[in-house]
Amino acid sequence: MNKYLITGGAGFIGSNIAERLLKEGHSVRILDNLSTGRFENIKGFAEDIDFICGDLSDYSTARKATEGMDYILHHAALPSVELSVKDPCAVNESIVNSTVNLFKAAVDCGSVKRIVQAVSAAAYGNDPTLPKTEDMPPKPESPYAVAKLAQEYYARAFYNVYGLQVLSLRYFNVFGPKQDPSSFYSGVISIFSSLMLKGKSPVIFGDGLSSRDFVYIDNVVDANLKACACPWTGSSEIINIGGGQSMTLNELVEILNKILGTDIVPGYKPPRAGDVKHSMADISKASALLGYEPRITVSEGLQSLIAWYRNNDLV
Ligand SMILES: NC(=O)c1ccc[n+]([C@@H]2O[C@H](COP(=O)([O-])OP(=O)(O)OC[C@H]3O[C@@H](n4cnc5c(N)ncnc54)[C@H](O)[C@@H]3O)[C@@H](O)[C@H]2O)c1
Repeated sequence: MNKYLITGGAGFIGSNIAERLLKEGHSVRILDNLSTGRFENIKGFAEDIDFICGDLSDYSTARKATEGMDYILHHAALPSVELSVKDPCAVNESIVNSTVNLFKAAVDCGSVKRIVQAVSAAAYGNDPTLPKTEDMPPKPESPYAVAKLAQEYYARAFYNVYGLQVLSLRYFNVFGPKQDPSSFYSGVISIFSSLMLKGKSPVIFGDGLSSRDFVYIDNVVDANLKACACPWTGSSEIINIGGGQSMTLNELVEILNKILGTDIVPGYKPPRAGDVKHSMADISKASALLGYEPRITVSEGLQSLIAWYRNNDLV
């Protein structure tokens, strides 16, 4: 049994990781300020975890949360390109300041073996080269992308200076249960599927030919667990985590229509500032270093998600 701290553990990805870790018999502590996350996400296992409701941008809170931990899965962030365009200061505080506090606290507490942190494919920006490989020069387009990239540079600096092991997982578009469809910050799949389940048309920003590499949450949870256990290569690796395939937004609506047995036509609006046009991960590094393979396909994931919405009366 290991002791894990999950920052942002009341959010979509963090709460799914917590659930898996508990099933595998580990001890779990969550630090979350419930800004975009919800207590609802951890309610089912709240008695089995140590929950700290606090803000990672406060060093003393970070220090308290890291005390005695073996591994940290760092997911706390205001995860929105759109919000970062409206309020770059808030997003910088929640991502950059919080990350530095966490890393410093982990060094100071002395027990942490490794941090695995969630970073983003937004680092690749609009570079037309596909698939995205980790050695491509970063081209962040939004304040959010810059902040997530800063996490990667801090990882490198903290290993060079303090020997802190940090692996950065560059997520592509993660989807699955517990992703909040009602929030301003939500991912496209949760918004589209919850609307279409109600018979409503989703809105596509742009012509619908933008493509994304969608990856089901269970695959991302696998990647986090593997990243804690894999041998340390001697540097702060950055590793793509996606499905390794891309799908346009028009195709996504088509598949959802098939699963739901509907014939809903999407609405179209002009593209949003900061959004990237195409995205697809090369996942060969994840496969080589972590033994990662996306075992759930997008189509299987979408079916599980729709079933989850229905079982939880969220339609
Ligand atoms: N969902 C995706 O497709 C995706 C893609 C790329 C990267 N990521 C990254 O993965 C991580 C998790 O994303 P998610 O989709 O689960 O989002 P989420 O909003 O559901 O989870 C983020 C959590 O962090 C918490 N939080 C925010 N600021 C905090 C702070 N200062 N102190 C403590 N807690 C704080 C929020 O309350 C929330 O519970 C983020 O770092 C995000 O940037 C997600």
